[in-house]
Amino acid sequence: MTNQSIEIEEPPTLQIQLDISIIIRPLTMFFLKTWRSTVFGVYGYLNFTKSGFIEHSKKFKPEDMLTRINEKNCIVTGANSGLGFATAEGLASRGATVYMVCRNKERGEAALSKIRSTTGNQNVHLEVCDLSSVSDIKSFASRFSSKDVPIHVLVNNAGLLEHKRVTTSEGFESNFSVNVLGTYSITELMLPLVEKAAPDARVITVSSGGMYTAPLTTDLQYSDSNFNGVDQYARNKRVQAFWKSSNK
Ligand SMILES: NC(=O)c1ccc[n+]([C@@H]2O[C@H](COP(=O)([O-])OP(=O)(O)OC[C@H]3O[C@@H](n4cnc5c(N)ncnc54)[C@H](OP(=O)(O)O)[C@@H]3O)[C@@H](O)[C@H]2O)c1
Repeated sequence: MTNQSIEIEEPPTLQIQLDISIIIRPLTMFFLKTWRSTVFGVYGYLNFTKSGFIEHSKKFKPEDMLTRINEKNCIVTGANSGLGFATAEGLASRGATVYMVCRNKERGEAALSKIRSTTGNQNVHLEVCDLSSVSDIKSFASRFSSKDVPIHVLVNNAGLLEHKRVTTSEGFESNFSVNVLGTYSITELMLPLVEKAAPDARVITVSSGGMYTAPLTTDLQYSDSNFNGVDQYARNKRVQAFWKSSNK
């Protein structure tokens, strides 16, 4: 008599299930991402481009656009270029006292003198502060708070889209450090001065329609190995909007 061993094959269910979930997950992520980007493209084209602005501006009241705001104190972050510069200039042209928060002294001074000369408003000031550093924000806040002026408008405009994963000297991913941590920190530290101007005070944070391309996530510093700067920017902008809507 010979000893014959009988081999029983394991049913392949587990293997198949694993394979399917490995395929389905990235496929679902791909479709979700494509869907979000398409919705953002269409919605963004209609609402966030120049034609969107022209459409929305039809609802602007001409008398509102002429309002003088001489008694108001406004802070605009990232005011040396782009939207921040235009905002600071617009506020200054209506008579407000404007504090431009910029990280670079030379670029800040150039923008400051341009705004003073185009608007004729000399109550425009430069405050140098790097919003990627909590310690710099703290020293700015303590310096500025000693002025004891009520702040009627704080415009959190400064923003960053860094494509590579760079870490600040304080150990934070750089997009997060400016867009989320810096924005949050300056707002919290300015709140006592904003409250001094209440109820006629507001905090405006410039988010972005780009947020529609990313879901809200708890991985605030994008620890994933496949770092993508555009995704991180979108995630940061989503956090800003979430934070605003939960603090109305
Ligand atoms: N442009 C758009 O189509 C668009 C659309 C949606 C939302 N937004 C948002 O609008 C805001 C302004 O964007 P923009 O297009 O005007 O961009 P921009 O021209 O690049 O201006 C960004 C400003 O933020 C400043 N900034 C960056 N990092 C800083 C830091 N660590 N500390 C202090 N300031 C810092 C920059 O200063 P430096 O000059 O020194 O770099 C610059 O003044 C951003 O929050 C952006 O997310 C823009």
